[in-house]
Amino acid sequence: MNTLQFPVGDPLHFFLRLGPTERMVSLCTVDDWTVIAWNPVRTHTTFADAKRAYLRRSRQSRGSLPFHAGLIGYMGYDAGCAALGVRTHAGHDPNIPGICIHEYDNAVLIRGTQLCIAGDATFAKTVRAILRRPLPSLNAERAPIFRPRSNRAWYRRAFANAQRCIRDGEFYQVNLAQRFDAGAPEDCRLFFSRLAYRHPAACQAFFESAGCTLLSLSPETFVRVRGKSVYTAPIKGTRPRGETPKQDAAMRRELLGSEKERAELAMITDLLRNDLGQVCIPGSVRVSQRRAVQANPTVWHTYSVIQGKLARNVGPLDAIERMLPAGSVTGCPKRRAVEEIDRMEPIARGPYTGVLLTLSDDGALSSSVLIRTIVARSTTMSLSVGGGIVADSGCQEEYEETLAKARTFLCAGSAIGVTRINGLQAQRTDSRLQLLQPLKARGNAVFETLRTYNGRVFELAAHCRRLRASANLLGLRLPIPLEKIGDTIRAAACFCGPEPLRIKVVVTKRDVLLHVAPLIDRPEIYRGVRAMFVRAERHTPQAKALPYDVSARAHARAAKYDCEEALLLAPDGCVPEGAYSNLFWVRGGILHTANDRVLLGITRSVVLQCARNLEVPVRYALATKNDLLHADEVFLTKTTTGPIPVIRIGDVPIGTGKPGVVTKRIMRAFDSYSGCR
Ligand code: PDD
Repeated sequence: MNTLQFPVGDPLHFFLRLGPTERMVSLCTVDDWTVIAWNPVRTHTTFADAKRAYLRRSRQSRGSLPFHAGLIGYMGYDAGCAALGVRTHAGHDPNIPGICIHEYDNAVLIRGTQLCIAGDATFAKTVRAILRRPLPSLNAERAPIFRPRSNRAWYRRAFANAQRCIRDGEFYQVNLAQRFDAGAPEDCRLFFSRLAYRHPAACQAFFESAGCTLLSLSPETFVRVRGKSVYTAPIKGTRPRGETPKQDAAMRRELLGSEKERAELAMITDLLRNDLGQVCIPGSVRVSQRRAVQANPTVWHTYSVIQGKLARNVGPLDAIERMLPAGSVTGCPKRRAVEEIDRMEPIARGPYTGVLLTLSDDGALSSSVLIRTIVARSTTMSLSVGGGIVADSGCQEEYEETLAKARTFLCAGSAIGVTRINGLQAQRTDSRLQLLQPLKARGNAVFETLRTYNGRVFELAAHCRRLRASANLLGLRLPIPLEKIGDTIRAAACFCGPEPLRIKVVVTKRDVLLHVAPLIDRPEIYRGVRAMFVRAERHTPQAKALPYDVSARAHARAAKYDCEEALLLAPDGCVPEGAYSNLFWVRGGILHTANDRVLLGITRSVVLQCARNLEVPVRYALATKNDLLHADEVFLTKTTTGPIPVIRIGDVPIGTGKPGVVTKRIMRAFDSYSGCR
C-alpha cells in the first residue's frame, strides 16, 4: 500500500480528475476516510449473488484502512421491503435494479492531506497519472429546477389517511415522502461535487451504475460492523442551524426540548433495538447513546446509537438484509407502516430510503440510509423528501418540513457561506477561523480577496502572483504549491455557482483557509460614494498580510460616519490609498495614482490598462489632502466592487459632485473587460 501527500486535502479534487476511462465510480464515506473506487470487476443485482461474491473474496485484514477492496453498492427501499416479505406495488422504474452492488479490486482512500492507494503497482501508477491531470475546467451552470410530482391536495389526503390509521391503532408512526423531479444534470460528477462542497454530509456518497447514478448527502448511518460488533445510529428530530451562535444554540435547545421529537426518536430507537436483536447474541444489544445531537452544516439532528454483538453464523450482509428497510424511514410497527406507505405514495421509492453499503473484503461494513439523495437517470433526476407522522403532527408543519429539507439540500444559489481549512469543512469552533477576521487575526499569514463575474474568478493568476509576492515579503513558505492554491480557489467558485461570490483565502505556513460567500450587489455605489480622511499608516504597504487591523479600524471609523471608505492619511500629509482600496484622481484630464507605499491592487492594474487603451494620460504621484479635495474627479478601486466614484470627501463635494467623465469611461471599459454588466 502506498501513501502520498495530497496537498489540497479535498477528496472532490481527486474525484473530479477521474475521466471517461474511469467507469462506474463510487465515492463513499467510511469513518473519517473518503473511499473512491472505479472500474468494478463484476456487478451483482441480487442479494444472493452479492453474498456469494463476498464469501468468495479473501477476508484477511490487510492493515488499518477501513477499505482495501470489496463491495460497494445499494439496496433500494423496495428490495428492503421484499426482504421483509412485503411486496410493493407502486410503479417501479424498470431500468433501475432494486439492488446493484459493484465488486472492486482497488480503491483510493483520502483523509485530510493523506492519500492511500489500496491496490497493486499498476493501479498505483494509474492513480499517480490521475493526480497529474489538471483540474478540469468547471463551468458554473444554473441550479436545476425541481418540481413536485404530487400536489398539496395529495399530501393532505395522504396525511389524513396516515392520521386515521394512527387513531385506529394500526401504527404509531409512519414516514410519508414526496418526490420532486428535474432534468438530469449534464455531468453528474460535477453536479455532485457542487452539492457535496456546499453541503458536506456525514455519509456523503456517489454511486454510478448502468441504471442510475446516486448523489447522496445523507447524514444517517445505518449498520456498521467491525469484527462481531455491530451498531446502528437512527436519526429522528430536525431543526435548522441558527445564523448566529446564540440563535444556533437556541435551535439546538428547542430540538432537545421538543416532546414530540423525543417521542418520535424513542419509538424508532425501540424499533431498531428490536431489529438489531434479530441478528445479535441475545442480551448483547444495548442503547449506548440516547438522544445525542448531530451538528450538520445546515441542520441539527437528534439520533441514538444502539450496539450489539452479531450472533454466530450472521455475516455483515445477513445483518443488513434482515434489518431492511431502515426503521427510521418506515415508521413503526414496521410491516404495517411499509404496507401503508405503498398504498399512500404514488410511485415506488426505488433507491431512495434504501441503503448504500461499503463492505471491505475483511468484513468491515459501513452503510448509510439513502435520504437527501438524488437519483439521476439519463434525462431526468428525482429527489424525495419525507418526514415521520405521529398522532400530534400537523399537516401544514409536516408539509413545510419536507419542503425545508428539499430547500436546504438544493439551496439553488450559494446563499450560505462555505468555510474550508485545507480542503475540509471548518468546524465552527476552530480557533484558526479568527484568521478570517481582520481585527482578531494574529500570526504570520498572507491573504487575498477575490471575486467572481459570471462564475469565473476575476484575475486569478494575478491574485496568485500577489499572494506569493506577499509571502516572499514576509519570509513565509507556502504550505502547498501556488498552483494548488489556485486550483482550490477556482474549484470553490465553480462549486458554489454562477452568482457573484466573494472569496477570501488566508495562507499561513501550515494552513490554507478559504471562505466563500455570496457578494451582495449594491448598485447605488456606482452612482458615487462618500469617503473621509482617517489618520493611519499600514504596516507593510506592499504586502497583503495579517494583521490587517490598521485597515480594519480605519474602515470601521469611516463606516461610523456613513462613509464608504477611509482614505489613509499618513503623518507626512500624504494619502497613498484607501483602507481597502487604491485611490485615483483626475486633474486637467490627467489620471493620477500612487505607485509606491501602496498595495499594488489587481483592480488598479486593470484600470491602468483601460486608461492606456482609452489613451487617458497617466501620472504616478502620491496624493496630498489638497490634491484630492481640489481634484476634478476621484475614484477608488478594489476587487470586490471594481472602480467606484467618490463624489464627496467628508462634506466637500468633488468636482461637480457627480461621477466625472474620465471615471465613467474607465468604469465602462472595466465593465466590458470583466464582462459584468
Ligand atoms: N482590499 N489597498 C488596500 C490596502 C487593500 O486592502 C486593497 C484590497 C486594495 C485593492 O486591491 P485589489 O484591487 O487587488 O482588491 C488596495 C480587499 C478588497 C480586501 O482587503 O478585502
